[in-house]
Amino acid sequence: MINFKIKNIPIRKKGVLAPMQEYTHLPFRLLCKDYDVGLCYTEMVNINHIIQYKEDLSKLDLLASTEKESPVSLQLFGDLSLKKTITAAHLIDNYKYFDIIDFNLGCPSLKIINSKSGSYNLKQLDKVYPIIKEIVSTSKKPITVKVRLGFKEDILEDMINNFEKIGVSAIAVHGRLAKENYSVPSKISRVEEIKKITSLPIIYNGDVNETNLGHVNKFSGIMVGREALGNPFIFKQIDYFSKNNVLLEKDYSDEALLSFLEYVKEYPISFSKLKVSLIPFFKGKQGSARIRELLSKSKNLKEILNILK
Ligand SMILES: Cc1cc2nc3c(=O)[nH]c(=O)nc-3n(C[C@H](O)[C@H](O)[C@H](O)COP(=O)(O)O)c2cc1C
Repeated sequence: MINFKIKNIPIRKKGVLAPMQEYTHLPFRLLCKDYDVGLCYTEMVNINHIIQYKEDLSKLDLLASTEKESPVSLQLFGDLSLKKTITAAHLIDNYKYFDIIDFNLGCPSLKIINSKSGSYNLKQLDKVYPIIKEIVSTSKKPITVKVRLGFKEDILEDMINNFEKIGVSAIAVHGRLAKENYSVPSKISRVEEIKKITSLPIIYNGDVNETNLGHVNKFSGIMVGREALGNPFIFKQIDYFSKNNVLLEKDYSDEALLSFLEYVKEYPISFSKLKVSLIPFFKGKQGSARIRELLSKSKNLKEILNILK
C-alpha cells in the first residue's frame, strides 16, 4: 500500500526518521526500516564536503548507503551559495544511492547560523528560492526542504506557497521558530492549518511520541527525531495507530539493540558514533546510568560488547 508519494517515490508507511547528526547513520536507518519506517533522512551533510569528495563520493562516510534501505533522503546543508549548491545537488542527483535530496533550512545551532547555513536561510529566502528552483528543474531526484515556522516570526504560509510554486516535492515542517528551543512546545496546530493552502505532501515534525499519535492521519508523514533514538519501535506504533487508532503492546525486548549491533558489524560506523548511538537504547531501563558511564569510558567494540553482556 502506498501512503503518499514524493514525486515518483512511493512512501509506504507514515513514520519518517528525522535527520539527526551523529545518529541517523546507515545502521540506525536500516534498523528503523525493520521497524516499519516509511522514509529515513540521513544526517545533514555539508555541501563543501560533497564537492571535496566529488571524484569518489563513496569515500565520504556520511554517504554510506545500500539499495536495501531505499527510500532514503540525503540532507544537504551549507550557506547555499549558487554555484556550490547546484554542483553538490547534481553530484548527489547522479550518485547511485539516495532517492530524494533534502535541504536543511531549519538547524538553529549558533555554529550553523554563523556559517549562514541551516535556519539562517529562513532570513534570506529570496536568495534561496531561485537556487532551489534551479535545482528542482535540473534534477531527476525529487527535491524537498525541511523548515521551521520561521526564524523569529512565523512565515509558514508564505514559505509554503513559494516552495510549492518553485516545484519542491514535499516539505517537512518542525513546528517551532528557529529562535525557540525544545522547552517551547512544537505547534502542531499551525502546521495543520497550512494543509488547507497546499496540495504538497506535508511531513509534520516536533515532539512526537506514542502518547500523542492522535494527529497521525492529518499529515502525509510523521517525522520523529529524539523519540526514535534507541526506540525504533515508535515507527511500528505510528503505522499501527494510523490504521487501528490504538497502540500495540509495548516492546520490552532487547531485539532492537541486538539487531542494531548486527547492522553495525555489517556497516561499521566510527567508534564515537557507536557510543552515542547506544546510550538511548538504555533510556528508562534499570542500571542505565551505570551503562552510560561504562559506555563513555569504553575504548573499543570488544569492551562495549562485554559491557552489554
Ligand atoms: C541530536 C540531534 C541532531 C539533529 N540533527 C539534525 C540535522 O542534521 N538536520 C536537521 O534538519 N535537523 C536536525 N535535528 C533536528 C531534528 O531533525 C528534529 O527536527 C527535532 O529534533 C524535532 O523533532 P523531535 O521533537 O521529534 O526530536 C537534530 C536534532 C537532534 C536532537
